[in-house]
Amino acid sequence: MTQAPFPATRFRRTRASGALRDLVRENTLTPGDFIWPVFVRDGEGVEEPIGSMPGVNRLSVDKVVEAAREAHSLGIPAICLFPYTDERLKTKDCAEAWNPENLSNRATRAIKEAVPDIAIMTDVALDPYNIDGHDGFVEDGVIVNDRTVEALVKQTLSQARAGADIIGPSDMMDGRIGAIRAALEAEGHQNVCILSYSAKYASAFYGPFRDAVGASGALKGDKKTYQMDPANSDEAMRLIERDLNEGADMVMVKPGLPYLDICRRVKDSFGAPTYAYQVSGEYAMIAGAAERGWVDGDKIMLESLMAFKRAGCDGILTYFAPAAARMLNG
Ligand code: PBG
Repeated sequence: MTQAPFPATRFRRTRASGALRDLVRENTLTPGDFIWPVFVRDGEGVEEPIGSMPGVNRLSVDKVVEAAREAHSLGIPAICLFPYTDERLKTKDCAEAWNPENLSNRATRAIKEAVPDIAIMTDVALDPYNIDGHDGFVEDGVIVNDRTVEALVKQTLSQARAGADIIGPSDMMDGRIGAIRAALEAEGHQNVCILSYSAKYASAFYGPFRDAVGASGALKGDKKTYQMDPANSDEAMRLIERDLNEGADMVMVKPGLPYLDICRRVKDSFGAPTYAYQVSGEYAMIAGAAERGWVDGDKIMLESLMAFKRAGCDGILTYFAPAAARMLNG
């Protein structure tokens, strides 16, 4: 890159008006970049606020359908379902995870029926159903891998049968992508995508989410034996490569903003569809500060989302999806 010296080059020329700024803008943010995570609970007509996530509610299935309709009309291509499971349905064997009538599957069928054009992403992990609060089975204090993968496959198939378009394994067990892909192919779900939570870090930024899905109470200890060490970057590349080789269509880095360096490395190294999850703690920091009037929430929201595009992401899972889409649509 060569640059003529000042004053032949004045960078302020291309910043001098809105028109010029539009012309030289390198990245764009549109509602088409968003996947909207929503929390589903039982009941009817229920919108239950989540204390640590101002502006986010747990929705009953009928309200989730309304949310999907709104998302679709705003141009948001996908909605991601997280169930808030009744304590009484949590067990050691996590059987509710593959119950065809569980909340997630009921919500999937209801959305498919009412808003067939929005893509539905579902969560594969045992934590919402696990009396131990972990993403995998716990045996003698150890989160076991291979037996958990068998359960994740059952969970996946129940979601695919209900009509899920994108399977999102968030559990971080080894070998799950290959097992899930083989099971989907064997049962004829050729077009069901896998968006793997490939580089998911053991992060304190998930705190409000665990309240939202009611997993905070059950969880003892931490998730460091399966989620990644925040100090590592090369390991993320190896995980992404492994998951792509096992049949992931899309890959994710999580959390988002504190891990933009990983997003950029992933996009540059593999060129695969790359997503970041702007997680609950990131949302809470922005929404909480905005609520107090300490920051301009709308501007920070859009600036933080643009950062993901600049870092190479193809899309973002964000609780801000509808608010951001409304702003972007003017
Ligand atoms: C668990 C899961 C978590 C999130 C999505 N799926 C939390 C965790 O790993 O404890 C976090 C999402 C967020 O914080 O917004 N399977």
